[in-house]
Amino acid sequence: MLHEVRAALALGPGEVFCDCTLGGAGHSLALLHDIQPDGRLIGIDRDQQALDIASQRITATAGDVQFIGLHGNFADLDELLLETRLPGVDAFLFDFGVSSPQLDIPQRGFSYAQEAPLDMRMDPGQHTKTAAELLNSLNETELAWILRTYGEEKWAARIAAFVVKARQLHPLQTTGELAELVRAAIPASARREGGNPAKRTFQALRIAVNGELEAIESGLEAALRWLNPAGRIVAISYHSLEDRIVKEHFARGAKGCVCPPQAPLCVCGQVPIIARYAHKPLVPTSAEKQDNPRSRSAKLRWAVKYQRNVAEDNS
Ligand SMILES: C[S@@+](CC[C@H](N)C(=O)[O-])C[C@H]1O[C@@H](n2cnc3c(N)ncnc32)[C@H](O)[C@@H]1O
Repeated sequence: MLHEVRAALALGPGEVFCDCTLGGAGHSLALLHDIQPDGRLIGIDRDQQALDIASQRITATAGDVQFIGLHGNFADLDELLLETRLPGVDAFLFDFGVSSPQLDIPQRGFSYAQEAPLDMRMDPGQHTKTAAELLNSLNETELAWILRTYGEEKWAARIAAFVVKARQLHPLQTTGELAELVRAAIPASARREGGNPAKRTFQALRIAVNGELEAIESGLEAALRWLNPAGRIVAISYHSLEDRIVKEHFARGAKGCVCPPQAPLCVCGQVPIIARYAHKPLVPTSAEKQDNPRSRSAKLRWAVKYQRNVAEDNS
């Protein structure tokens, strides 16, 4: 959705652009020219391997744009941006989820289509729990909750029961074992609907392993604070849970006050910080979906920060 991203970010020469999900740097490389001359590109990724490869690509073509590559979770955006010593950012891009290389390298354990250890950590260097560790340690209720909430899996309870039974014999270790177990847990008639039956379970585990939804909450919240006046923010989501967080965040930022509607006076003191935002998400064209099947579920939302603090406008 490069065309839509470019239009919504509306970058200009000399601006500071922060790509919070650098990945393979597809977006950043394409947008680099828009901040020339003298712009600054901050590229963040929690995956050191992705960051290293992307950094090499960018530095080879950055010209007079200053590139700052930062390894970390955009949930910690405050700490990451403080490192740059920049006072603010003109535009942010979030392109959530996993990248194609992460899905395509079997050892990362993200794909139900390839046999590998059940890892799924975007940042394996952090020594956080792998998908196998979660599957083998959580109780049945906790597992069912993860599958139902993060995967919107209607057979969550059955799959969780199958996991608990299977791990009594031996711990679940591989993507293949889990994919096979999900197949067995879902009744044959239900398996015929909508793609691989393991898709929702893998999505749910990945979200849990990486704390993805909590990161989106904190990342968006910090990005809105760091945005310069009239700054732009674009977020691309790939499932309804992500999209709901973005939508609610932008709506809240545009509304400001969070007092209950029955309150006679505003006591929260919060003012709107978003001047305009996409009420409806933009989606890829059918040509793009055909060209890049992974873009099929993409939803893009944008928001623009007020030119001035609205408290000043009202005073
Ligand atoms: C969909 S890809 C981004 C692709 C990129 N826009 C491009 O054009 O190549 C998502 C990337 O964001 C990273 N990522 C996901 N969640 C993150 C987080 N909370 N903090 C930092 N990076 C994150 C992933 O490691 C992955 O490399």
